[in-house]
Amino acid sequence: MKVTVKVPATTANFGSGFDCFGMALPLFNIITIEETVLPGTGVEVNVVSDFQNNEDLAIEHIPKDENNIIYKAVEMLYNSIGQTPSELRITIKSSIPIAKGLGSSASIIVGGLLAANELLNKPADEAALLSIATEVEGHPDNVTPAIVGGFVITSLEEDGSIVYRNIDWPEDWVLNILIPDYELVTEISRSVLPAEVPMQHAVFNAGRTAMFVEALHSHDAELMKLALQDKLHQPYRSKLVPGVDEIFANLRHEEDVLGCTLSGAGPAILVISLKNKVERVKSIVTETWENYNVKTSFYSFKPELKGAEIIEVV
Ligand code: HSE
Repeated sequence: MKVTVKVPATTANFGSGFDCFGMALPLFNIITIEETVLPGTGVEVNVVSDFQNNEDLAIEHIPKDENNIIYKAVEMLYNSIGQTPSELRITIKSSIPIAKGLGSSASIIVGGLLAANELLNKPADEAALLSIATEVEGHPDNVTPAIVGGFVITSLEEDGSIVYRNIDWPEDWVLNILIPDYELVTEISRSVLPAEVPMQHAVFNAGRTAMFVEALHSHDAELMKLALQDKLHQPYRSKLVPGVDEIFANLRHEEDVLGCTLSGAGPAILVISLKNKVERVKSIVTETWENYNVKTSFYSFKPELKGAEIIEVV
């Protein structure tokens, strides 16, 4: 049996919603898991990337065996029903840039889990898949939208369960994603964060996340500009993304630009704007990064409303 799953990219945090807000985006990884018939062949992971030329390094460092994160996810699902995966051929056809802040690892975890769940005749429901995916990833803000689609508020509860809610995204708020030509793995981007934060910074972010939800509900662009601000992670991470403070400053006073944040753990940047500002956003970011000898790739997205789906079973 061979199962193929399509999983969207994600952008997480939205500034103030560190580890809590996430959204699916219309870029996809295609993951196939095949039970191979030859005993003793073990687990084999193949990665084919659209970005083979300029991302050789990232591809090279992806483990092709049981050390791959996808295998860890699949193994946890098998173990949850008292089984162990044996002969599996896993193929990841990657169109989501790797180590850029677009949920590439979450998509792989989710794709592996969904495909394995189908191979095992669906022992896990959505809640179980969300819990396992979050346990492997460490936080729920990428895996939740990768599974359910759209914009989500998501929370990891003490018992390991995930609570989430979808909120509609305003039609005319465009998500501009700008990606620099270097990688930043999430482990490094998390390693610069402090274990504890000042109380006033926690209060600042609590206020901003509440504003964020209200801004979405009432379609309030002015409130959104405040709501994207953050003191919990971006101040510590900005040194890992040269030029980011300058980009934020250059965009701050642009009319119809609602705000900018790191996409997930970076190094990509998310800029929310109205449609008439897309080209302006692109040129401001591209030109600023050029001064740092950084090349920029650019996407302009609407949210992807569909989560991961099985596209073929043979
Ligand atoms: N919330 C996560 C972080 C997203 O900022 O580290 C990246 O995986």
